[in-house]
Amino acid sequence: MSNGPELALPAVYNIADLRDQVRQWRKDDLRIGFVPTMGALHDGHLALVTQALETCDRVIVSIFVNPTQFAPGEDFDAYPRTLEADATKLADVGAHLVYSPDAGEMYPEGYVTTVHLTGPTHGLESVSRPHFFNGVATVVCKLFNQVQPDLAVFGEKDYQQLMVIRRMVRDLNLPVEIEGGQTVREADGLALSSRNVYLNATERERASRLNVILQEFADALKSGANVADAQHQAQLKAQSAFDSVDYVVARDAESLEALPSGPIERDARVLAAIRVGKTRLIDNRAAPKA
Ligand code: PAJ
Repeated sequence: MSNGPELALPAVYNIADLRDQVRQWRKDDLRIGFVPTMGALHDGHLALVTQALETCDRVIVSIFVNPTQFAPGEDFDAYPRTLEADATKLADVGAHLVYSPDAGEMYPEGYVTTVHLTGPTHGLESVSRPHFFNGVATVVCKLFNQVQPDLAVFGEKDYQQLMVIRRMVRDLNLPVEIEGGQTVREADGLALSSRNVYLNATERERASRLNVILQEFADALKSGANVADAQHQAQLKAQSAFDSVDYVVARDAESLEALPSGPIERDARVLAAIRVGKTRLIDNRAAPKA
């Protein structure tokens, strides 16, 4: 089944081998969980696998650095690729299969069909990365068709992405259940991210402010602060802490639409994207209505 390096757990590299394995499991009436990733796995990814294992008999993890969600000049080439180490971590937490297709398998010659959403793809990440969610939605839709899982788990770390996937699944009637997994953080609150390896020691120290600023922002909203005021305060803090700020905002937790001024009247989510040095970091926190 394998035609790649020797790995700590079974791996498949093309759709035909993946389908053979999934067909076998289906015949045995096993429930299949799926965690899509771009590799360089850390405890955040592994927590999603553990969550899938709670309700699934078999868990498949895809590792595919998806070219269509990177714009020219972004870190596609630099993105860490660590398949063997990833497989060892996945075997340790009890995942059953790695699926690691190459770009030719995922996007064959003459490929012209893509998935586009409006709604939750407006604003936030799309402002500085307009290509991003079309690339994500397209690859996740294809992965769902290839793997055909019962359940797929996505991290709340990428909150807008989770909302986009939920909407796509609903709108296209994809037969897969979606669960969100809580953000796993370092001891000082910095959200784990494959991109944290780009930070030098001073940048790493400064990066931990992001979580603090968002937590204070969420706390202010929870205790009844005016949205516009609390947002302004958080933006000022972010501007003085980081090298640049793409956004620091409060949005409706479901639709991601802007909130009216005044105290929050529905569950909100505070979300931010900033740069420390050259590294772009995103994070978010829940701000439930009291
Ligand atoms: P990637 O960045 O590798 O993330 C894979 C999954 O891990 C995503 O669902 C992401 O939200 C989750 N994740 C990342 N950091 C986390 C953390 N600290 N705690 C909990 N979960 C975390 O997101 C992607 O890949 C891609 O866009 C993908 C969905 C695979 C499509 O290419």
